[in-house]
Amino acid sequence: MRVLAIESSCDESAVAVLDGESRCFTHEFISSQAAVHRQFGGVVPDLAGKEHRRALPELIGRWQCSDSFAVPDMIAVTHGPGLACALGAGLDVARELATFYQCPLLGINHLQGHALSPFIPLWQRNQPWSDLFPHLGLLVSGGNTLLFTIDENFNKQVLAETVDDAAGEALDKGARMLGLPYPGGPPMEELAREGNPKAYNFPRAFTPAVMKFSFSGLKTALLYQLRKMQADEIAQYKADLCSSYLQAICDALVRKVDHVAKELEPRSIGFSGGVSQNCVLRGEMEAVCSRRNVPLLLTPRPYCGDNASMIAFAAMVDGCHGEKSPTRFHPKLRL
Ligand code: KG4
Repeated sequence: MRVLAIESSCDESAVAVLDGESRCFTHEFISSQAAVHRQFGGVVPDLAGKEHRRALPELIGRWQCSDSFAVPDMIAVTHGPGLACALGAGLDVARELATFYQCPLLGINHLQGHALSPFIPLWQRNQPWSDLFPHLGLLVSGGNTLLFTIDENFNKQVLAETVDDAAGEALDKGARMLGLPYPGGPPMEELAREGNPKAYNFPRAFTPAVMKFSFSGLKTALLYQLRKMQADEIAQYKADLCSSYLQAICDALVRKVDHVAKELEPRSIGFSGGVSQNCVLRGEMEAVCSRRNVPLLLTPRPYCGDNASMIAFAAMVDGCHGEKSPTRFHPKLRL
């Protein structure tokens, strides 16, 4: 089985091909729109749609012209959740390709792609994974913050999600207030390395036992803190502000994982999504897992942000949860 996957839910246009026999990705192309949206401080939906319609045919052309090109057995496409015009662009290209190559088209939930991405390295090594279920997953991206379980049949159950901003969104908006470029996670991580995580006492919403996340109060707390400071003071203490802000996000996420891990005793814990690239968060997740004696499955960095490889992988190992021949996209699809 050879799966060609297309991802275009937000601001990354991506195409990947997964070869089931060799268990490897033969093609992985990604075109980020970050530079296009940077001047606006966040993603502009209409622009994202136009950029996908420009970039996807170009990426498909690179695949078709490559030496290792082979006709796919299936096309997988992200059919939600995401920006309507961005998803529509991907679905149109995918439907054209499925018609051209006369192969089935499968709609894959973007969150399912992220949720299963920690299993990619195990599958590539052909490593048995049945003893890793029930699995507890934490997915932290620009648009989603989810804590969920997965059983051995890849059925997923959401335990907690955000009631307002996603953690990545809070990072991006906090970074913007501090004058850092979009996306804010990487520059904030870099500055935070030189800062003191205890310098500012930013709020952590909800106790670990409450099955909800919230990050909008944290954002407001940063805004009020900055209003109390002069510009030169903000510049002087920017690293401390970043470090304390990041630590508040980290505590809110990791303390809940620790609480649920204690209650449910999962046999593995996964960490995925763009924000899971953060070293502070990775370190704290490692600490929780070693304390609870549970294996930690970290999504490899190339598959943390939005990418088509995770969509191909989800179609390959969990296709039964996909939508056959999708004709519509679902901007508000849930895990
Ligand atoms: O998974 P992703 O591409 O999600 C969506 O597009 O929804 O993740 C993007 C998010 C952004 O909020 C970005 O700031 C954050 O991931 N991010 C990071 C890091 N790298 C990316 N956050 C913290 N530390 C990082 N190193």
